[in-house]
Amino acid sequence: MTTLTVNGTRHTLDIEPDTPLLWVLRDQLNLTGTKYGCGIAQCGACTVHVGGQAMRACVTPLSAVQDQEVTTIEGLSDDGLSHPLQVAWREIDVPQCGYCQPGQIMAAAALLASNPSPNEGDIASSMNNLCRCGAYVRIRQAIVNAASTQSQNQSQNQGPGETS
Ligand code: FES
Ligand code: FES
Repeated sequence: MTTLTVNGTRHTLDIEPDTPLLWVLRDQLNLTGTKYGCGIAQCGACTVHVGGQAMRACVTPLSAVQDQEVTTIEGLSDDGLSHPLQVAWREIDVPQCGYCQPGQIMAAAALLASNPSPNEGDIASSMNNLCRCGAYVRIRQAIVNAASTQSQNQSQNQGPGETS
């Protein structure tokens, strides 16, 4: 048995421990937002968060996420719409075919969680997910916009006189 938490829900699964997390998410838990692209950790279509870190679910065995917190695109925000990246993605109309986009957003979310104000170099070095449609310019712009929104939200939440 393997126990893990996915998007806040705990699951105990009787599945072969070497089963890739991607197939557990898609086939067992019906979380099909995470996509299969290459299956060899190259494209990033399967990116999810494990313990807050971006991971490629196609090459992550179920045994590696025992007792871990997994977040998929379905759990990035409570309503599926309101994460600053989701807002920026819509504003700029980032996707073309859309297939790579859940993985792109999850990679970007891990970046902003660890580096709330990434510069162009930071974005270029950490965003290595592939997009066959070539939406890279819009993806990078959306990350910049989301970082700005996130920073404004934090300033408003802190209120006057507070610093961090
Ligand atoms: S499907 Fe996992 S990296 Fe391509
Ligand atoms: S939007 Fe089509 S592969 Fe990225």
